[in-house]
Amino acid sequence: MAMRLGVAAALAPTIAGARAGAADDTIPPLFDAAAKCGLRFGAAIDREIFDDPQYAALAARHAAVIGNINALKFDWLRPNSFTADYTTADKLVAFAEQHGKPFLGHTLIWNDWPPPWLTALGRKEKAATFAAHIDEVMGRYRGRIATWVVVNEPFSPWDRQPGHYRLGPWFSTFGPDYIARALRRARAADPSARLILNEAFCERRDDIGAAVRPALLRLVKTLRDADVPFDAVGLQGHVQPQHGLDHDAYVRFMDQLAAEKVELEITELDVDDSRIPGNAAQRDAAVAEHYRAFVAAVMRVPALTAITTWGLSDKYSWYHEVAQKENPLAPHQPRTHPFDNAGQPKAAFHALIERLSSC
Ligand code: XIL
Repeated sequence: MAMRLGVAAALAPTIAGARAGAADDTIPPLFDAAAKCGLRFGAAIDREIFDDPQYAALAARHAAVIGNINALKFDWLRPNSFTADYTTADKLVAFAEQHGKPFLGHTLIWNDWPPPWLTALGRKEKAATFAAHIDEVMGRYRGRIATWVVVNEPFSPWDRQPGHYRLGPWFSTFGPDYIARALRRARAADPSARLILNEAFCERRDDIGAAVRPALLRLVKTLRDADVPFDAVGLQGHVQPQHGLDHDAYVRFMDQLAAEKVELEITELDVDDSRIPGNAAQRDAAVAEHYRAFVAAVMRVPALTAITTWGLSDKYSWYHEVAQKENPLAPHQPRTHPFDNAGQPKAAFHALIERLSSC
């Protein structure tokens, strides 16, 4: 853990801001627990905070880093044409600044969810859009977004491409080179920003996990050998027990990544409880156990610098959307997060507090 003490010192100026909310101050802040072990604890949030002051206060109290969920994505900024609407993104970045917290921007280049107008462009126009998007968005927030997830989810084994690359507009324009191009462009657009290459699935025990881990490791080595600039590898950490979890393989893999001299972050932690049987209390206990085991595993890796959750409460869990898509008629009540619908701490919160401060 000695390697992480610098991180704890860097957090000191944000502590006053984090206490400014109207959240329940009888429970300890998550970021405080994590800072004891030299980790930054963050939470990704989105426009729901503008209608729900209690939720805004929860984020302000518990997160040392504020991230966004959707507001900075290409398809959310530019749904109909290249002309962007920055209203929500501007407000989220301002919220983080008001509370003295660094911002984690998600995400610049992702092959998933291209708006139809982008897909319809020719190759040359896509190439120009790629560069203009990175320049404009990073230029707008230069010096204000501390860390950028530049490339999200490069791999998607079910697309059946050599190397397991994910198909989409950026891949079809540049091939796998889109990744190096994005990182170089991002470094030039805001030299002060930390740059992340982000991936999902690596904790999984199944064929997807087994395919993505070596693919990502190979990519990181190739980028390093070619001196492509980036600072950290982000591992999302959407824990989905139904696919099986292999924490030992995951930790070995993280150590292999770290040997390439990159920092590591968990960028999107939550636990999918959709296949966990039982009543609410039983599901809460099982979800807490998954948080506990996952965090304990990743904290064994000295290169880990931060853990960010994908939201904080069940009320705004993205698993509402996932369940709705799977079966619009079925009732769904995800219990995926550290806080319940009313913003009260659950067993998962207590598991996090205990694990984050055990080092
Ligand atoms: C999800 C959001 O949570 C949803 O609200 C949205 O409809 C789709 O995207 N991995 C990622 C995130 O990197 O961007 C995804 O976020 C969740 C999976």
